[in-house]
Amino acid sequence: MSGLGRFITLEGGEGVGKSTLARALKEALEARGLKIVLTREPGGTPGAEELRRLILTPPESVGQWPPLAEALMFYAARRDHLEKLITPSVRSGAWVICDRFSDSTRAYQMAAGGVGRDSIEALERICVGDAGPELTLVLDLPLAASRQRMKARSTKDDAIESRGADYHERVRQGFLDIAKANPHRCVVLDASLAPDVLAKAALSAIDTRLGVAR
Ligand SMILES: Nc1ncnc2c1ncn2[C@@H]1O[C@H](COP(=O)(O)OP(=O)(O)OP(=O)(O)O)[C@@H](O)[C@H]1O
Ligand SMILES: [Mg+2]
Repeated sequence: MSGLGRFITLEGGEGVGKSTLARALKEALEARGLKIVLTREPGGTPGAEELRRLILTPPESVGQWPPLAEALMFYAARRDHLEKLITPSVRSGAWVICDRFSDSTRAYQMAAGGVGRDSIEALERICVGDAGPELTLVLDLPLAASRQRMKARSTKDDAIESRGADYHERVRQGFLDIAKANPHRCVVLDASLAPDVLAKAALSAIDTRLGVAR
């Protein structure tokens, strides 16, 4: 993406520590004098947050969204988020750190949910084009460990979190496959590391891939 800022995404399954790492990175990068915009998907703008509610906590009358309908809503939300927040922020020189982005749709709706690669690639081309992230940090953690963390957090599971272990195993493998297929953009981090150690590893990946920003 052109512009002075940077666009970094954090990816991985449920409860692997994405949001915790996002907050640590914001603090560390702000300490270097950078302007950081911390945001998340689905969501990040009022319209995308409305779609988030429909996707993650659908009214009972909706039942389950078919995987393709779910993917379409994610991309509608993503387009709003890109146009109204991510792209303008990067153009203004900010570093955008986004908690989940397109790789989550690939891992969940495609790898785990069975939506065809062609459909996802078409949506990606239409809705994101070349405005995607330059760097993606993929947090990898065995399912048992992330389940443990989720339990400790004790909020009610949403429509996606409550899907079975098979689904979430496919999500995990989906992220690893994406990282393998996109080595120039993706760095896999061991999410079992303690939060401060993980944050150091993430900062070091940022410095190596994007050039040290101080
Ligand atoms: N590196 C870590 N080591 C141990 N526990 C962690 C680590 N990072 C986060 N946690 C804890 O694990 C739980 C999940 O963390 P967090 O909410 O950051 O994960 P997440 O990937 O954002 O989850 P979700 O996908 O549900 O948004 C929290 O209770 C958090 O305090
Ligand atoms: Mg989170």
